[in-house]
Amino acid sequence: MKSILVTGGTGYIGSHTVVELLNKNYKVHIIDNLSNSRIEVVDAIKKITGAEPIFHQIDLCEKADVKNFFAGNSIDAVIHFAAYKAVGESVHRPLLYYRNNLVSLINLLEVFEEYKLDNFIFSSSCSVYGEQTKMPIDESASLAKAESPYGNTKQIGEQILHDTILAGHFSGIALRYFNPAGAHESALIGEYPLHAPNNLVPVITQTAIGKRESLTVFGNDYDTPDGTCIRDFIHVVDLAKAHIAAVERLLNKKNKSSYEIFNLGTGTGKTVLQVIQAFEKTSGTNLNYVIGPRRPGDVVRVWADTKLANNELGWKAELTLEDIMRTAWSL
Ligand code: UD1
Repeated sequence: MKSILVTGGTGYIGSHTVVELLNKNYKVHIIDNLSNSRIEVVDAIKKITGAEPIFHQIDLCEKADVKNFFAGNSIDAVIHFAAYKAVGESVHRPLLYYRNNLVSLINLLEVFEEYKLDNFIFSSSCSVYGEQTKMPIDESASLAKAESPYGNTKQIGEQILHDTILAGHFSGIALRYFNPAGAHESALIGEYPLHAPNNLVPVITQTAIGKRESLTVFGNDYDTPDGTCIRDFIHVVDLAKAHIAAVERLLNKKNKSSYEIFNLGTGTGKTVLQVIQAFEKTSGTNLNYVIGPRRPGDVVRVWADTKLANNELGWKAELTLEDIMRTAWSL
């Protein structure tokens, strides 16, 4: 049985990936500092899968603790999710983002090298593309300046990983997520941020249940069909399954070079207003929303060219925007 370390494994995408790994009988270690997730997620994962991940409360910025973990556990692959991820917050608190997202990655890679490990999967983001004109966007596009410190931590993170792989002897894959949303069918795990959510879909559901008075649409004067931004919303379970495909590609040595990059999206862009309409239709409720100013750090439009991931990983997003809304709403 192969052992996989999932950092950020009690977080949103991490927890769904742990479920898919356990369903495929991998032994799973989770490292999380619980800065934006709850320990109860581990019990929820057990309930869904009937299997138990091994939880370690470790802050990856504490190198001695990271080293200690690897000294005591034999690991066949690492999926590194743990990071801060709020675009807007990163604009206001850049140093928090640079320190947390980059120091943790460097610590992990240093220890990874020291223990001569192989197979590293990095959670990257479509935000590395910055503002682009040609859509859909494929992995060969040259990266524009990231629009936010968060996006920049992902650009720099990819470079750090690539340089480390070139100088070393291991293989890695960077997965560029578009906009993950939705929840597990069981409604036992989903997006449960500890702090008020910033992402569109959880803000929609919190508004619908009355936790928030209204939702502000950040700008309707963009150059798009209805003036609101366009994103490629991918169901988190589809995204989780792509990680299994990526891990197995590395474990089975099917990778074509030591460093590969794949877009993970659906290939279709939806405007913020279309997403709100999809929610209203699925839930049968009317959402209270207002139009507000643009949010700093937002790109106008981004959706994925998914050919590379479809062909190379043998993976394709299968769930729809309606599935996203239905599962997010039943949480
Ligand atoms: C960004 C990244 C994405 C990353 C995610 C992590 C880009 C292009 N994408 O997503 O790769 O996975 O952060 O958090 O940088 N919106 C509103 N009102 C709200 C909330 C959001 O109008 O209350 C709008 C935003 O302006 C944006 C869209 O909804 O146009 C999606 O926003 P959000 O869910 O926060 O994700 P991104 O910032 O696109």
